[in-house]
Amino acid sequence: MSLKVNAGEFIALVGPSGSGKSTLLNIIGALDRTTSGHTVLAGEDITLASDRRLAEIRRDRIGFVFQAFNLLPVLSAVENVEFVLHLRGQRDTRAAAMQMLEVLGIGELAHRRPAEMSGGQQQRVAIARALVGQPVLLLADEPSANLDSKTTGGLIELFQRLNAEQGVTIITATHDPLVEGAARRRILMRDGQIHADRTVG
Ligand SMILES: Nc1ncnc2c1ncn2[C@@H]1O[C@H](COP(=O)(O)OP(=O)(O)OP(=O)(O)O)[C@@H](O)[C@H]1O
Ligand SMILES: [Mg+2]
Repeated sequence: MSLKVNAGEFIALVGPSGSGKSTLLNIIGALDRTTSGHTVLAGEDITLASDRRLAEIRRDRIGFVFQAFNLLPVLSAVENVEFVLHLRGQRDTRAAAMQMLEVLGIGELAHRRPAEMSGGQQQRVAIARALVGQPVLLLADEPSANLDSKTTGGLIELFQRLNAEQGVTIITATHDPLVEGAARRRILMRDGQIHADRTVG
């Protein structure tokens, strides 16, 4: 497949289970490598970049919300969020992490571990962790999968604000019509290929 994403776009990847949405996000997010072809991120060909370079790119530019959260079980919610800032060598990260949890409506759960939270609450910690480092590219794999419709509405508003006001490029894989409806560009995947690609509005 061939896909070009411009800075500032808000894209929904849709399509049946197994069509390759998560795989594509993992490649764009410098977590997986393609077996052939090229991946270019912000003008840099990362196809053959070292693991160290890929880690730097992820740390400095990309926020990733995983389909399976991937929270660290021994850390509390706020510690999970702070962790990404520690990777950048930042100190005094508590206030920024708390603020992000509050934006997601789970400030009062800051000191719970993932196992002590519901799926939707863990999802929100994962979203806070993806956003706290102010990424230029946000990749979100089924971010609303465990959220009720009210929380999903809040998440969509947050994504739209980040996209419109801060120019964050957002690519989200979703089965949720509400999230799909919020994206201006909708890419339908099927069997690892782009089946349709349309921009609305
Ligand atoms: N680590 C892996 N090794 C081998 N095959 C994999 C791996 N991860 C996914 N696949 C396969 O690659 C294909 C695409 O999977 P992918 O997870 O990208 O789908 P998806 O569109 O995200 O599906 P869903 O909507 O269920 O999340 C599937 O056939 C899947 O079985
Ligand atoms: Mg998936």
